[in-house]
Amino acid sequence: MHLLRIKILLLLTIGTSILFSCQNTEPTQKELTTKKEKTTLKDAYEEHFLIGTTLSKQHINQEIPKAAALIPREFNAITAENMMKWMNIHPAKDSFDFSMSDKFVALGQQQEMFMVGHTLVWHSQLADYMNEMTDKEALEAHLKNHIETIVGRYKGKIDGWDVVNEALNEDGTLRESIFLKVLGEEYLEKIFRWAAAADPSAELYYNDYNIEQPAKRKGCIEMIKKLQAKGVKIDGVGIQGHWSLLGASIKDIEDSILEFAALGLKVDFTELDITVLPNPWDLKGAEVSQNFEGSPFMNPYPEGLPDSVQVKLANRYQSLFELFVKHKDKINRVTFWGVHDGHSWLNNWPIKDRTNYPLLFDREFNPKPAYFEVLKIGQAIDPPVN
Ligand code: G3I
Repeated sequence: MHLLRIKILLLLTIGTSILFSCQNTEPTQKELTTKKEKTTLKDAYEEHFLIGTTLSKQHINQEIPKAAALIPREFNAITAENMMKWMNIHPAKDSFDFSMSDKFVALGQQQEMFMVGHTLVWHSQLADYMNEMTDKEALEAHLKNHIETIVGRYKGKIDGWDVVNEALNEDGTLRESIFLKVLGEEYLEKIFRWAAAADPSAELYYNDYNIEQPAKRKGCIEMIKKLQAKGVKIDGVGIQGHWSLLGASIKDIEDSILEFAALGLKVDFTELDITVLPNPWDLKGAEVSQNFEGSPFMNPYPEGLPDSVQVKLANRYQSLFELFVKHKDKINRVTFWGVHDGHSWLNNWPIKDRTNYPLLFDREFNPKPAYFEVLKIGQAIDPPVN
């Protein structure tokens, strides 16, 4: 009996001390060091969402030493900017070119990056021979082989696939792509199923621009619901995020996060950039075929961004990241479409050879005021303990 009482006392003492040590909120030296060291984007957001960038050929070949150092320091996710697009990876009917995509994957593995394959099925940047593929059976077999070959090659390596890119019109209806015309609406269901079978562990996304806009968002939700009702695996939606200083509105973006998350999907911002140049046509999104004449008026900052605009850009990024942090439980990844301003596609769209400033790093790879805003917001989520 006496022995039993001693045992109970001993257990109680051990239990209490475990409980006490758990309740002790004093940070350990290791925790203190870790929190203070969150001086890069990926570290500042590491417990909340991934911070990504897109890699082009020159990044993968590590041709620019400053970019080669900056990318693994600031980012923990990479997307293939162009090398996995149809015309590059599947340039001839019976041959693939994996030279760049293999290098992309090898670099990503070496740097322990979350890797996104972009993109399996897109109406744009197709190889020329695709225009002749008007036979339903032949196109279907070709598409299946395209997906199985590419996803299968990178099984267990590429973490997520933009299975289909930009399949919707602005009014939310399905785009009249070669895939829709020849195969009918069922092509969507099929490509997701083929991708899931080729790598069951990869995340599968629908990716598009302007899907934060109400009409297109509605169409996107209907399309995804239909796929889900058929038992198709779709893990996330990629809101591209090609925006300007003025739009999209925070309300539309917030509504989109909530509505897409309500479908049980992960929400990713997959191609974020903010144009600061004139847009008299009020173009939204990223329809790559849009092209206009240039003029000095349309290219107002060839020698550098005025401080006043720099501040507007920083404020815009601040509002966006405050929103992302508010909904960090629903957001999985925020990827910038480019590493630095000099590299952005927005220097050439919708007018060629302009000087745009849409990203967080300038042409010399130095962080801009917008970078420090974004960093500060990330650091503040988990305030350092003094
Ligand atoms: O590599 C060739 C080069 O050899 C040639 O001399 C040069 C002449 O124009 O063209 C080079 O290819 C260009 C390629 O970018 C690489 O710089 C293509 O012309 C150009 O069309 C291509 O633009 C890409 C565009 O998609 C179309 O594929 C942009 O880099 C890329 O940022 C952009 O990305 C898209 C996403 O995939 C989907 N969402 C919208 C986003 C922005 O448009």
